[in-house]
Amino acid sequence: MLHSLHCVEKQREQYCHHSETTSHLNKQENGEYIMNIAIIGSGNIGSGLALTFGQTTYNVTIASRHQASAQGVADKLAKANVTAASIADAVKGADVVFIATPYDAVASLAQAADFTNKVVVDVTNPVKADFSGLSIGFDTSAAEEIQKLLPQASVLKGFNTVFAQVYEQGLEFEGRKAQTFIAGDNESAKQAVLTLANEAGFDAVDAGALTNARYLEPLAYMNIHFGYMLGKGTQIIPAWLSR
Ligand SMILES: NC(=O)c1ccc[n+]([C@@H]2O[C@H](COP(=O)([O-])OP(=O)(O)OC[C@H]3O[C@@H](n4cnc5c(N)ncnc54)[C@H](OP(=O)(O)O)[C@@H]3O)[C@@H](O)[C@H]2O)c1
Repeated sequence: MLHSLHCVEKQREQYCHHSETTSHLNKQENGEYIMNIAIIGSGNIGSGLALTFGQTTYNVTIASRHQASAQGVADKLAKANVTAASIADAVKGADVVFIATPYDAVASLAQAADFTNKVVVDVTNPVKADFSGLSIGFDTSAAEEIQKLLPQASVLKGFNTVFAQVYEQGLEFEGRKAQTFIAGDNESAKQAVLTLANEAGFDAVDAGALTNARYLEPLAYMNIHFGYMLGKGTQIIPAWLSR
């Protein structure tokens, strides 16, 4: 059963890392708060995230440069809890913002909305246009560069090792939940997104500091390589097993 992430008064500091953030939460009659999620990008991944989080009781808003495209996704997911908005409005009303655009688009996103005090989940992979590899890495990552572009936000890396097609068929793989690895430096923001991911049906794994995005992005590239170059298709997902 999917539950919303409730930020009850005494848990606000734990789940909602900045006090300013909580001002955007919807206060329910019983005094609980429901988290607002914005998804920027209404393509393959934006649609998949909207489908998945739209089935929870979180409030989900999707946006992209062309609002008609975001509206199309919201209309398609009419039964889910998804609405469309401009990028600026979606970010303004959000506690957690998922970036599901090409990595190169983030510089323009930084101009399009105010990310101050937002928890930002970077889902991008800085894949080269010809898919021959990643455009950055080793001593930095897309996530770290996005943190530099959005210094007033708390950036996390996550969900980047999940093919968009996975969302269409659900998050279970032969009885096991799909894993997603969440890296970031703001512990309370990371705990909130780990909880959010688990409530959406993932087995979310704390992947340490944001610098670990340097390893999560190549992991996603290896997943792409398995899927498209080595013929495994897109119903695959990396998992960290332990016993
Ligand atoms: N596809 C996957 O399986 C997968 C898996 C994990 C991670 N990712 C990563 O997720 C990101 C999106 O991939 P995708 O496959 O969903 O791509 P996509 O289908 O091409 O969608 C990209 C979206 O970004 C929007 N966009 C492009 N430039 C923008 C800008 N300057 N400002 C705002 N929005 C912009 C586009 O909408 P408009 O044209 O309307 O703006 C579109 O909705 C990429 O970084 C990719 O590496 C993809």
